Amino acid sequence: MVRVICVASGKGGVGKTTSVVNLGYALNKFGYDTIIIDANMGTPNLALQLGMPKVSVTLHDILATNKSIYEAVYVHPNGVKIVPAGMSMWELNRRFNKKLSNELAKLNGVCDIILLDCSAGIKEAKPAIEASDELLIIANPNLSSITDALKTIELGKSLGVPTMGFILNMYRGKKYELSPSNVEEFLGVPLLAVVPDDEQVRISQAKNSAVVDYSPNSKASIGFKKAAAKIVGQEYRELENTGFIEKMIYFFRKSL
Ligand SMILES: Nc1ncnc2c1ncn2[C@@H]1O[C@H](COP(=O)(O)OP(=O)(O)O)[C@@H](O)[C@H]1O
Ligand SMILES: [Mg+2]
Repeated sequence: MVRVICVASGKGGVGKTTSVVNLGYALNKFGYDTIIIDANMGTPNLALQLGMPKVSVTLHDILATNKSIYEAVYVHPNGVKIVPAGMSMWELNRRFNKKLSNELAKLNGVCDIILLDCSAGIKEAKPAIEASDELLIIANPNLSSITDALKTIELGKSLGVPTMGFILNMYRGKKYELSPSNVEEFLGVPLLAVVPDDEQVRISQAKNSAVVDYSPNSKASIGFKKAAAKIVGQEYRELENTGFIEKMIYFFRKSL
């Protein structure tokens, strides 16, 4: 059975889209066939982050016509499979005659994991949460972010969609920030990983790339890879992606 995971936050601008791009890439690299889907139907930008602003069939087309979701799956040059949403203004008024969950069900047996990039807001996020098996929360270390995150977790509960955990994104380790353990206690769900605020994320986005691909050993990349490993119940090993020479240096340093 495919696992449908909704990546949500309540608050906007916390790193949902960035997380979906990077977790999708990392999970693929770990051997889990993953499709990332832009379920932010009002302000989609998943494909934009990957430099694919124009495609012929989008999620809007799938839900509004008799086309099947297979027709909207594109493969990015980095190997990630993506279903973009329509970005034009006129798409906002389209009437949908199909349910997202029914279309996602067609991908059963086609891939292992589906990551939904969800809208900000609670009402706006509801359709994507309803179509999912699990919620993955992205939060920043401040009060407004975690308050909105908690609301989203509560909404998930009321819809019967449990939260597997959260990623604390854009953490700088400053005194004025909430600590990872404080946030974990407040949200009451497990911390999957801390992803530091890292300029490499913004640089990679300017290059239409995932940071885990563009700068694999950056702090943010390690954070996203740790989170991806937790999603599939594995421990991330630092050495997984390093070359032979680095492994040797690491080995000799440790044994001295
Ligand atoms: N770990 C990070 N370090 C630095 N910048 C980040 C990080 N995560 C996200 N960003 C930046 O924050 C902004 C918002 O991220 P985005 O993924 O679009 O958020 P959302 O989808 O929740 O609205 C983007 O400009 C992105 O580059
Ligand atoms: Mg977004």
